[in-house]
Amino acid sequence: MARIITLTLNPAIDKSTTVTGIGPNTKLRCTEPTYDAGGGGINVSRAIHKLGGSSLCKYFAGGPTGVFLKQLLDDQQIEQEVFEIEGWTRENFAVTDTSNNQQYRFGMPGPMVKEAEWQNALQQLEMQLNKGDYLVASGKLPPGVPNDFYAQVGDLTKKKEALFILDASGEALMEAAKSHIYMLKPNLAELGAMCGVPSITDLDLKSLAKQFLEKHDCKILVVSLGPKGALLATKNEMVQVPAPVVHQQSTIGAGDSMVAGMVMSLVGGKSLSEMVMYGVACGTAATMHQGTQLCNKEDADKLCDWIKAQ
Ligand SMILES: Nc1ncnc2c1ncn2[C@@H]1O[C@H](COP(=O)(O)OP(=O)(O)OP(=O)(O)O)[C@@H](O)[C@H]1O
Ligand SMILES: [Mg+2]
Repeated sequence: MARIITLTLNPAIDKSTTVTGIGPNTKLRCTEPTYDAGGGGINVSRAIHKLGGSSLCKYFAGGPTGVFLKQLLDDQQIEQEVFEIEGWTRENFAVTDTSNNQQYRFGMPGPMVKEAEWQNALQQLEMQLNKGDYLVASGKLPPGVPNDFYAQVGDLTKKKEALFILDASGEALMEAAKSHIYMLKPNLAELGAMCGVPSITDLDLKSLAKQFLEKHDCKILVVSLGPKGALLATKNEMVQVPAPVVHQQSTIGAGDSMVAGMVMSLVGGKSLSEMVMYGVACGTAATMHQGTQLCNKEDADKLCDWIKAQ
C-alpha cells in the first residue's frame, strides 16, 4: 500500500482555556488549560488517524515546546519524524469567555528557521521519498523559509515520482502553483488569488478551474466551497459535490479533515468522484464538533452515504 507522509513547517501547540468575563487591568482567573498538537500537516495526520488510517507525520520542531509537541503526538500514537530546528516551536492560545461563549484566538508567528535547517529537510525528503508515496503538505511557512519552499518540494516529488498534495495559501501557494503538483486544494479565495480574480462567482468557477488546469502542472484541482461543498476538476471531469447541512459547531480544521479524507480515498483506490465525496463528508464532519477535534469516522461515513444517495 502507498505511504502517506504529511509535512508541517510551522506546527504549534494549541493551548486552550476558559474564563468568566474578559476585561483589561485585572487578573483573569482561567481554568486548567488543554493542549493539542496543531498545524496543517499535523491536523491531516491526526484526522487520518481518526479515520482509521495511518501516516508518517514529519514536521519542523525545536526547544522544550518541540519536545512537548512530540509527546502530544506520541500520546495519540501518531507515527512521527522531527526535522530539528534551533528555534522553539510556537504555542498558540485560545480563551473562551464563558459569560458570552465568545472565543479569542491568539496566533504566534513561529520560530525563525535557518537556511541550513530547511535545506536539510529538503535533502532528507529527497532521500526518503519513494515512488508512489503521497506527500501531503499543509499550512503556512515559518519565518526564514523562502516562499518557493513548496515549489521546491513539488520539483522533488516529480523527480522521485511521488504524489504531491498541497493545501497552502498566500505567496507560498502562488510560488508552488508554478511547480509540479498532483492535487491542489484551494478554497475559493485561494483559487481567486492564483487566477488574479478578486471574487469568483458560481457562473465562472468551472471555467476558471478549467483554465487553471490548462496553465499549470497540476493533475487534480479540488476547490473547497465551505458550506457549499467542493468542485473536483481534472482535464476530463468536473464534479460538484454539495455539503450536507449539519449543526455547525466550529469550522476549525475543516480543510485539513477534507484533505485527510481525500488522501485516504486515493490510497484506498477509490475513484476521484468518490474521493471528493468523502472529502466533503470529512470536512463537514469536522464542523460538527467544537474546537480542534477534527472529523470522526462515524459522522464522516454517515455523511458520505447521504451525499452518495443524492
Ligand atoms: N459551514 C459548513 N457546513 C458544512 N460543511 C462545511 C462548512 N464549512 C466547511 N465545510 C466542509 O469542509 C470543507 C472545507 O471547508 P472550506 O472550504 O471552508 O475550507 P478552507 O477554507 O480551506 O478551511 P480551513 O479554514 O480549514 O483552511 C468543505 O468543502 C465542506 O465539505
Ligand atoms: Mg484552508
